[in-house]
Amino acid sequence: MTDILSKYKNTHFTELPTPAFIINEDKFNLNCQAMLKSVNDLRLKTGKNILFRPHVKTHKTGQGTVRQLGHGVINHYERNTGSILVSTFSEARGILDYQESFGEKYVDDIAFSIPVCIPQYMTRLANTANRVKTLRVFVDNEEHLNNLVEYGRLPGDKKWSLFVKLDMGTHRAGVVTESSEFQSLLKKILSKDVKEVAELYGFYAHCGHSYHASSASQAYQYFEDELKAVNNAAKKVVDMDESLLAKSLVLSVGATPTTTAVLHAKPDLTEYIRNELIGTLEVHCGNYCLYDLQQVSTGCVAPKNVAGFVLGSVLSSYPTRAEMLTDTGVLALSRETSTIAGFGYCINPDEILNDKFTSKGEWYVDRLSQEHGILKPHAEVNCPNLLKLGSKVTILPQHACITMAQFSYYFIVNKKGTVVDVWTPFQKW
Ligand SMILES: Cc1ncc(COP(=O)(O)O)c(C=O)c1O
Repeated sequence: MTDILSKYKNTHFTELPTPAFIINEDKFNLNCQAMLKSVNDLRLKTGKNILFRPHVKTHKTGQGTVRQLGHGVINHYERNTGSILVSTFSEARGILDYQESFGEKYVDDIAFSIPVCIPQYMTRLANTANRVKTLRVFVDNEEHLNNLVEYGRLPGDKKWSLFVKLDMGTHRAGVVTESSEFQSLLKKILSKDVKEVAELYGFYAHCGHSYHASSASQAYQYFEDELKAVNNAAKKVVDMDESLLAKSLVLSVGATPTTTAVLHAKPDLTEYIRNELIGTLEVHCGNYCLYDLQQVSTGCVAPKNVAGFVLGSVLSSYPTRAEMLTDTGVLALSRETSTIAGFGYCINPDEILNDKFTSKGEWYVDRLSQEHGILKPHAEVNCPNLLKLGSKVTILPQHACITMAQFSYYFIVNKKGTVVDVWTPFQKW
């Protein structure tokens, strides 16, 4: 997107064509730094080696990924991860291409965060594995194992590396540790046929339903649930095969609400990690580099921490119903919701880059259709000022990941609001 960059470099974001997605580089970097430091703190508090694996699905870019891994945001001697999660082949391929274009090895370990071991994807998985030191795949079904056995080892005679995905109650992907399916899955993983082509790396828990938490302490409870579930799973497998070294099992936990809540960690869990956890802890999360209103609704972060927003324009206004029309419809904001009313908060463009703003603005997005957005004043705002047609509005979205997936590029702005870069996401599958 160099042509977009050369066209708009140094332009103030309020002069950009709309709808557009803007990333405040400072806030993005700070969010990455805070999470890395929080994991480092947990390491220090527990005296344990704790791994960190960011998910790249929110922005799907090379530039965002390297920051999540700490490049340019923390001291190089504190940087200790090259592990990421992806949810599409496009993300994996794009990020590997990105690092190769610089001759760098930022990423050396990719885990595919959806169980995709079906025949259609096996060759693509093997091709991805061929380009990175380690690829890890999720399994939650015996058929995944049959497919791996059928495919055989990876090129270079490497074995597949398996994360068993646990269902934490979200009832999306994963197996419940107390189920008979879990027992049979473990038994099969330990069978001769499977061991010939694959080895167990660890257990993976992601409380997607932690997005419904309404306070940091509630979100923290989910972190505890994740920890106990992976530990329990590890104990079960070690009971089944005593030759397995518990310490070598990686127990991966996290989601943005739960890991953000760790920033306020209580000492009792530190004790649990130090004394009870039988494997090596890995923390994973993704959305935290941007945050959004869904995260604000969990009580773990403030609106001022949100690093990305949608820029729109006022297209018309309706004084009798005190509403305005914008070009930020579903295609610019998504139809995601949370306990925060509407589909986005309009923060004053003069305030949105400020890292201290507290006001939620006068307007919010009340209704959407494909291209139309309807702004309404918050209930407590008397006599709202209708904006002049053509005015720019800046909207904090409900869900950054899905909102951003609708933009072909993002404008990166500095503290003053001028465009310093353009990032292109690796979209689709
Ligand atoms: C399996 C899995 N792991 C990790 C993540 C990252 O979660 P979050 O963005 O809440 O940090 C996601 C996000 O959807 C996910 O689906």
